[in-house]
Amino acid sequence: MLNGMSDEQAWDARYSEENRIWSGKPNVELVAEVSDLPPGRALDLGCGEGADAVWLAGRGWQVTAVDLSGVALKRAAKHAADAGVTVDFQQHDLEKTFPAGEYDLVSAQFLHFWADFDREKILRRAAESVAPGGVLLIEGHMDHGPFKHDGHPEIHFPTPPELIAALNLGDSWAVLKATTHPRQQKGPDGDVIERTDSTVKLRRTA
Ligand SMILES: C[S@@+](CC[C@H](N)C(=O)[O-])C[C@H]1O[C@@H](n2cnc3c(N)ncnc32)[C@H](O)[C@@H]1O
Repeated sequence: MLNGMSDEQAWDARYSEENRIWSGKPNVELVAEVSDLPPGRALDLGCGEGADAVWLAGRGWQVTAVDLSGVALKRAAKHAADAGVTVDFQQHDLEKTFPAGEYDLVSAQFLHFWADFDREKILRRAAESVAPGGVLLIEGHMDHGPFKHDGHPEIHFPTPPELIAALNLGDSWAVLKATTHPRQQKGPDGDVIERTDSTVKLRRTA
């Protein structure tokens, strides 16, 4: 709940502010980290307008893509149709329900919210849905950057080691990458800004 709106209403309102919020291109780190993987079953968590899901499907992945916002999902479905690819788009509030099945790739690209939400609980559930041999890729911000507005709660953005510890993974996992890195992005005023992101890439070994 934020300003009297449910989380779904808040995201629908955010997406309704513009015809398109995100670039329409797949996330750079997804492309960098996944290009070498053999296509299989992929799950995109918080898929937004669908650019990652469409890119994965175009490379032969069988993609399930999930978001809370019906407005975003409608846009994502149009993007997939325009690109001539098939994606199984599903609407879930991932704090409450999660898509069935197991996946060779589970990707969470900037699964953030300006309100507080239980991201770590969702990511723990995400780890459970990775098939043996599969990869969990989590890309996140290290701060709000210039996107924080008055009234937004303070949120702690975990470092890669903090996030890995919070996932409670046990022995059957290998850490392939756990880094922070700068990334350039268009800020709210249209200027290009630099902010710090984090990449956590894990393989389920058994
Ligand atoms: C910062 S956007 C990132 C979108 C996309 N992954 C990208 O990189 O362009 C976060 C997305 O997570 C979705 N989201 C937030 N909370 C969610 C929840 N509880 N369940 C499912 N999706 C959620 C939002 O609707 C939004 O599309």
